[in-house]
Amino acid sequence: MAMTDLVPNTGKPITLVIFGASGDLTRRKLVPALASLHSKGRLPSNLQILGVARSDLDDQGFRAILEEFLGGEGMTRPTPAQWTELSSHIHYTHGDVTSSQDLAQVKSRLAEIEGEAADCNRLYYLSLAPSLYRHAINGLGEADMVDDTSGWRRLVVEKPFGTDLESAQELNDIAHSVFREDQVFRIDHYLGKETVQNLLVFRFANAIFEPIWNRNYIDHVQITVAETLRIDERGDYYDQTGVLRDMFQNHLLQLLTLVAMEPPHAFEAEALRNEKVKVLNAIRRVHPQEVAHHAIPGQYRTYRDEFGVSPDSDTSTYAALRLYVDNWRWQGVPFYLRSGKALRSKSTEIIIQFRNPPHMLFPLAEDEDIPANTLAIFVQPDEGFHLEFQTKTPEAGLQMRKAELEFHYHEAFSGQAIPDAYERLLLDALNGDASLFTRADEIEQAWSIIDPIIAGFNRPDAPRPYYYSEGSWGPVEADRFLATDGRAWLQAGRSR
Ligand code: BG6
Repeated sequence: MAMTDLVPNTGKPITLVIFGASGDLTRRKLVPALASLHSKGRLPSNLQILGVARSDLDDQGFRAILEEFLGGEGMTRPTPAQWTELSSHIHYTHGDVTSSQDLAQVKSRLAEIEGEAADCNRLYYLSLAPSLYRHAINGLGEADMVDDTSGWRRLVVEKPFGTDLESAQELNDIAHSVFREDQVFRIDHYLGKETVQNLLVFRFANAIFEPIWNRNYIDHVQITVAETLRIDERGDYYDQTGVLRDMFQNHLLQLLTLVAMEPPHAFEAEALRNEKVKVLNAIRRVHPQEVAHHAIPGQYRTYRDEFGVSPDSDTSTYAALRLYVDNWRWQGVPFYLRSGKALRSKSTEIIIQFRNPPHMLFPLAEDEDIPANTLAIFVQPDEGFHLEFQTKTPEAGLQMRKAELEFHYHEAFSGQAIPDAYERLLLDALNGDASLFTRADEIEQAWSIIDPIIAGFNRPDAPRPYYYSEGSWGPVEADRFLATDGRAWLQAGRSR
């Protein structure tokens, strides 16, 4: 796994070429993350950054726009001197990736920046509208910009990678016609989150959890990615996409694979991703006609009034899903996944609920129940872990009370901000470490799990999305869905 926080300064200059550089991602995430890394001394001094987009800007204009967005959550703000230094390495050139002439100009601008004869490494970052990925990749190939004899060439592709299995396969084919798989870095920013990486350390650097991490001790797993955000200005995109494509196919399934995977033989990209793919392979596919038994779609009440949304839209802004991983470790253990917009609070949590003790030797009142042990993994905010267990209340006979063992990053590492996921991912891409990036087969497996569910939601006989109020925890039908399994959604280990 990525453990290097420094880009080795090999002497060879590196150029990061960002296509789609006038967009939101570059301003809000990529450049602030680079500036944050620079302020911590983690970028190589010979890194040059070239922004390419259709807007008419010059270097100065581009730098001025970027400066406004420095800092931000999880990002260290560079000092003015550090920014002056970094920004002298930031360049801009006009370019439309669908135009071969423009790409030829990008190529000559690169020659200027890198020096005609320089041996250099290059990272191409596609921060474009997804419909332009194919043009950019083919264009780079046709412009002869991927020859890696004088230095490495890598491609970073933002999500969404395809909109279904077929389009993802097609995009993979295009990528592989120009780049080798080991040159392609598909982003899922959840993998760059510190707690997500810590989940691997938690599982595989401690001997006490792994023996009980299976069907014999775990009753079920809940993965919640709740957002308070509505869809804001993304109506056009979101209405075509929905929560299953936007969140489940990538972020939630990635979290599931990290919880469920077998220990890889080494912390390196191929070993890690092989294990994740095995989990995806083992997930039982839901047939479209059975979706109503395994999934609950939801839509927040005012969604249809949002800008860019069709007034009779049936797009889901919420979904709850039950999945099974059909292998020895997990047979029969449900994984409940839920995610939605406009919910009560922003939280990403993984809760492992253990089984009840096989025999209760303490006398309980008739309606008394002892809650099972839970392990809650808080991915965000307030990153940390809680382990709940029963203790005896002093001098109260055999009355029991729940106690918690807690670990919180902000307490354990006080003063140390959790870095934004893009810092980790940019650094790893520069280092050539693909552990936290999604491999071609992984993406395709994930689509093959989600596609039939989307098809099921779209069937004429399928239930329409259930409405839920903004600021709630989703439709009541999602509570009933778990109740029919004799379970309830848990939050921070507590039933709500
Ligand atoms: C993105 C989705 O991938 O993840 C957004 O497109 C969502 O709709 C975002 O809001 C959530 O990311 P985070 O890091 O804020 O949990």
